[in-house]
Amino acid sequence: MIARRTQREVDILRQANQIVADTLVAMAEMIRPGITTFELDLAAEALIRQRGGVPAFLGYRGYPNATCISVDDVVVHGIPGDRRLADGEIVSMDVGVIYKGYHGDAAVSVPCREVSKEKRRLLDAADRALANGIAAARAGNYLEDISRAIEETCRAEGFSVVRAFVGHGIGTRLHEEPQIPNFVTGERGPRLRSGMVLAIEPMVNLGVADIRVLDDGWTAVTADGNPSAHFEHSVVVRDGEPDILSMTSKRVWGQLRTDVGRVCRKKRR
Ligand code: MF3
Ligand code: CO
Repeated sequence: MIARRTQREVDILRQANQIVADTLVAMAEMIRPGITTFELDLAAEALIRQRGGVPAFLGYRGYPNATCISVDDVVVHGIPGDRRLADGEIVSMDVGVIYKGYHGDAAVSVPCREVSKEKRRLLDAADRALANGIAAARAGNYLEDISRAIEETCRAEGFSVVRAFVGHGIGTRLHEEPQIPNFVTGERGPRLRSGMVLAIEPMVNLGVADIRVLDDGWTAVTADGNPSAHFEHSVVVRDGEPDILSMTSKRVWGQLRTDVGRVCRKKRR
């Protein structure tokens, strides 16, 4: 059973996700060569708590920090620590918040200073994959329409989609039904209905799709050492355009902001 949220619940989910979005923007603004990922995590946790939220990842299945910060060949679940960011790296930041019993979850990948043309292309493709996935999240469509939109966008650019992790429903728990693969599985999955809340999160690799998890039990890295990018928004399915709960108009994220309105308008034509 996939939950369908009331307007009251959506209001709270939006508040949770706005704490997430503001935290991601604040972290992105701090990014510079030499800063440690732990410094970013500390600032994020302080901001989340100051806003009345609780970091959703902290203690989740034993996860040790408030955020995940995944640099370059780290795909997801990078544990903040003493690693110092360097010019030319991709910094993927993932934040989860619990607010009044409801969850927010979003992620964004940003360059530290200037990145290579190839990495720039990877970031753009992953961002566009999320935008196209979100645009497919409308009532009447099937779950697979989201998966297909994401996979096709990445394939068209010659990049590969990670298969080991998937998106998810979100609400009173961080991970709810349904699982949302970023690739076509052959099953069309459930019909999407208004009020379903989905965390859509493509992880896109420049090289092979395979990943491996380090001995810490969390850090997922690409099998071939090539860089990876990760974008995530929490959205409400509606009859028309989906409602992106974690959307922000702030500039730092705005450089790579998922312009789903544009994607939807293009589709309608
Ligand atoms: N956005 C990721 C997810 O939804 C982050 C989970 S990190 C964890 O799965 F620590 F909470 F597992
Ligand atoms: Co998520």
